Amino acid sequence: MAYTTKKVPTTPFDGQKPGTSGLRKAVKVFQQPNYTENFVQSILNVLGDKLAGSTLVVGGDGRFFGKDAVKIIINMCAANRVGKLFVGQNGILSTPAASCLIRKHQTAGGIILTASHNPGGPDADFGIKFNTSNGGPAPDAVTNQIYSLTTKISEYLITDSPVAVDLSKIGSNTFTVDGGQQFTVEVIDSVSDYLLLMKDIFDFESIKKLLSGSSGKPFKLLLNAMHGVTGPYVKRIFVEELGAGDDCCVNTTPLEDFGGHHPDPNLTYAADLVKAMAQGNHQLGAAFDGDGDRNMILGVKAFFVTPSDSLAVLAANLECIPYFKKTGVRGYARSMPTAAAVDRVAKETGKEFFEVPTGWKYFGNLMDAGRLSLCGEESFGTGSDHIREKDGVWAVLAWLSVLAHTGLGVEQLLKQHWARFGRNFFTRYDYEGCESDPCNKMMAELEAKAIEPSFVGTPLTAASSGKVYTVAKGDNFEYTDPIDNSVAKGQGIRVLFSDGSRVIYRLSGTGSAGATVRLYIDSYESDSSKHSLDAEEMLGPLVEIALQLSRLEHFTGRSKPTVIT
Ligand code: G6P
Ligand code: ZN
Repeated sequence: MAYTTKKVPTTPFDGQKPGTSGLRKAVKVFQQPNYTENFVQSILNVLGDKLAGSTLVVGGDGRFFGKDAVKIIINMCAANRVGKLFVGQNGILSTPAASCLIRKHQTAGGIILTASHNPGGPDADFGIKFNTSNGGPAPDAVTNQIYSLTTKISEYLITDSPVAVDLSKIGSNTFTVDGGQQFTVEVIDSVSDYLLLMKDIFDFESIKKLLSGSSGKPFKLLLNAMHGVTGPYVKRIFVEELGAGDDCCVNTTPLEDFGGHHPDPNLTYAADLVKAMAQGNHQLGAAFDGDGDRNMILGVKAFFVTPSDSLAVLAANLECIPYFKKTGVRGYARSMPTAAAVDRVAKETGKEFFEVPTGWKYFGNLMDAGRLSLCGEESFGTGSDHIREKDGVWAVLAWLSVLAHTGLGVEQLLKQHWARFGRNFFTRYDYEGCESDPCNKMMAELEAKAIEPSFVGTPLTAASSGKVYTVAKGDNFEYTDPIDNSVAKGQGIRVLFSDGSRVIYRLSGTGSAGATVRLYIDSYESDSSKHSLDAEEMLGPLVEIALQLSRLEHFTGRSKPTVIT
C-alpha cells in the first residue's frame, strides 16, 4: 500500500503541558478535532534530526480512546518520516513493557497511551506520555520543549488516508509513503519480550517451587489486575509460566473503563483485594494500576505493606534476586514524600542514597549513570534499573523471590525488618477534586510560613493529646540532579521536626482537572515495643498539627480526606 502526506493547518490549544507523567485530560478534550494531533506532532518534532528514519514504540493500557490514538499516531508517524513502529497487539502494552521494548530495540523512544491510575471511559481520562531512548519518562527539559512546541504549532503531517494495519494480527507490515520512503509497522505480542526480561532477572524455578507448595509450605497467591493492562501479563507469567492456578488472578480482562472503577492499587480503590485477603486463605496479595507500573502488596489477612516499607524490605534483601547478584547493588533512592525507611538500609549497607522529587523521571539519570539499582515512591511505585519505569509485576516477582529465599511470610519479614532498622509509620491523606485557586493560596501561605526563619524551633502542639513537635526545618523542596545539574524547584512544602518526623504538602501533578491536595506524614519509631501499634493512631497528633498549620479545612472546605493510604 502507498500513501501520500498531507499538511493540515492547525492552531494551538491552551494547557498542553505534561504533568508529573505525561499529558492527562478528559477523553472529551483529546477528542476535539486536532487536539491529539497537535500534541503528537509536538512530541515528534522534539526528536528533531533524529525523527527521520527513527524507530518508536507505541502502545497503552487499553483504555477508551486508546485505539483511536494509536491509529492517529501511526498515520502521523508515516507522514513524519518515522522508519518503523513497534506496536503492541491491539494497541496494548503495559508501561513497564513499553520501557523494556524501547531499551531492547534501542528505539528513539516511545509513545505510551495511558492516564495510569485515573478512571477510563468516554467520560473519564486519557493520557499521552513520551518516553525517551533510555526507556524512561521524558525529563522536564524535554516535556518543557514539547509544551513550548504546542504553543506555537501551525500545522501537522498525516497520511492522506488511514494506514491499513490490522492491529489484532502479529506481524510486520511495510508501506511506501510519498512514492519512496518505507514505513514499517510491526505488531508484536504485548507480553513476550517483557516475559523474557523477567526470566532473566528472577529465578523462576524457585518461585515455581514456592507457589506449588513443594517447599513444604502451602502458598496461595491472589493478584487483582483491576481490569487494567496487567491481565494478560499476570496470566502468562503467573499461571502459564509459574504454574499458579487460574484462581490466582482476578479482573484480568482489560476493559476500556476498568469496569467503572479507579484502577489504583490502594486500600480504598482495591478494597475487593483487601476483603478477599482478609479471609486469610492467601499468603501474598497484590493489585496493579491501569498501566501496570504501580503495585500494592498485602500479606496474610490483608496485612498491609506500605510502599515505603516495600522498598526498604526489598533493599535489605536484594541478594534473593539473581539480577542484583549479577549487576551488584549500586544505590537506592526514593521520592521526597516517601517515608524514609530505605534511608536506613542505605546507611547500614553503605550504599549511595538519593532523595528526588515526586515522579519516576527523576530516577532515570541516576540509573543511566550507574549509581542507582532500586527505588520507589509512596504512590505505590517500586522498581529497579532493569527498565526506566516502575514495575508492578516485577515488584510481585521480587517479593516472591524474597519469600522463597527467606522462607518467611510477609508480616514476619516486615516485623524482622522493623526490629532491625526501626519503623517509619506513614500515611497519606488525599483531598481530591478541590478548587485550584484556594489550594494554590494554601500552598503559598504554607510556603511563607515554612521559609520564615523564626519557624525553626517553633513548638507545634496537637490540641487533643497535648503532644508537641518542634520544627527543625521548613522549605519548599528543591532538587539538583547530580548528573546533569538540572534544578527542579517547588516540589512540595516540607516541615521537618526535631525527632525526624516529617509533614509534607503537595498538589498532585497527575489530575486532569481541579486540584488534589496530598498530605504526607512520616514518623520514625525505634522502640520495637511500639512497632505493632496502629499507624493511624500513632500518626494522629501529627495529622492534627498538619491540618492546623495549613488551615486546610478553611481553604478546601473539606473536613475529611477523599482517600487515606
Ligand atoms: C505518576 C508517576 C509517579 C508519581 C505519581 C505522583 O504515577 O509515574 O512517579 O509518584 O505520578 O502523582 P501525583 O498525583 O502525586 O503528582
Ligand atoms: Zn501507572
